[in-house]
Amino acid sequence: MEINPEIEKKIQLLDEKFQKIDQKTETHLEGLLWSKPITYWDYIQTDALLNLQTQRTTLPDEMVFIMYHQVNELLFKMILWEMHQLCHAEKPQTDFFTERLMRISRYFDMLTTSFDIMGDGMEVGQYMKFRNTLTPASGFQSAQYRLIEFASTDLINLIDHRFRATIDRNTPFEHAFEHLYWQAAGKDHTTGKKSFLILEFERKYKAEFLRHMEEYNTINIWQKFKHLPINDQKNPGLIQAMRHLDKTVNITWVMGHLNAAKKYIGGGEATGGSDWQKYMHPKYQRRIFFPELWTEDELATWGE
Ligand code: HEM
Repeated sequence: MEINPEIEKKIQLLDEKFQKIDQKTETHLEGLLWSKPITYWDYIQTDALLNLQTQRTTLPDEMVFIMYHQVNELLFKMILWEMHQLCHAEKPQTDFFTERLMRISRYFDMLTTSFDIMGDGMEVGQYMKFRNTLTPASGFQSAQYRLIEFASTDLINLIDHRFRATIDRNTPFEHAFEHLYWQAAGKDHTTGKKSFLILEFERKYKAEFLRHMEEYNTINIWQKFKHLPINDQKNPGLIQAMRHLDKTVNITWVMGHLNAAKKYIGGGEATGGSDWQKYMHPKYQRRIFFPELWTEDELATWGE
């Protein structure tokens, strides 16, 4: 290789980079001599990834169930990645805002349109057998799903409707946590006793959830939107993107999920033990991230 001025310039830039962190450029160049060339499998970590599918039963369709959930978790991670960038941007411009929202929506659209992999992709007979070995676990215990909710909207929109009047921005996070809409799925209605499903979930994630609730209290997607200049808040493309996200997450995905659940468990009991038929329907749950962007009529008929 000829050491032309372009190469010299690159070496100089490298030297500046390493000087800034008190490193010797020569040592790093020497290190390059011995470093392994990268391969696809090392970079993507295919061996690790493809070793994460462990069945608990001998039924082949359990593999579909495990892998589809893992695909969901990977997409949840991609969604959280975009949300982090959007919410931590000091002053996001409207184009950036819209573009990032559309990225998030595309991931959720993908989750929604692919739900028939669950709905049609397993034999009901096999599912009914392997599901017993999964009790008392449930997709309800997906922590990333909850993190997505916290990053999307003000906490008040995630509070159970029955308690909204008693909670405002000054309520301690711990108290708000106990009144999140999803607490209803994990409590005995008569005694208020929490189920094993939710106790285990909280034991593992409650501290992280409280931290996340606090972090996103002032920088969730809705707050970022409300801090845009007034004219930008009226931008039709941005409003359309916000509404699309709300609908995809809170109606379309929820209905895809509910219909898959109905196909398999019909009127039966859920592995997580919730009163799921009612709890999961958007028209009862009324989880709406951006209520101000919907008309009275649209709100009244949410999920119908
Ligand atoms: C055959 C497939 C599925 C069935 C039968 C099913 C069933 C259920 C049921 C009955 C619940 C209510 C909680 C409980 O267990 O008591 C639930 C909650 C949940 N499931 Fe699934 N599910 C399926 C697939 C999935 C997939 C692929 C995901 C993606 C990660 C998922 C994520 C969730 C989440 C996030 C909740 C909580 C929803 C909320 O709080 O509104 N589920 N599921």
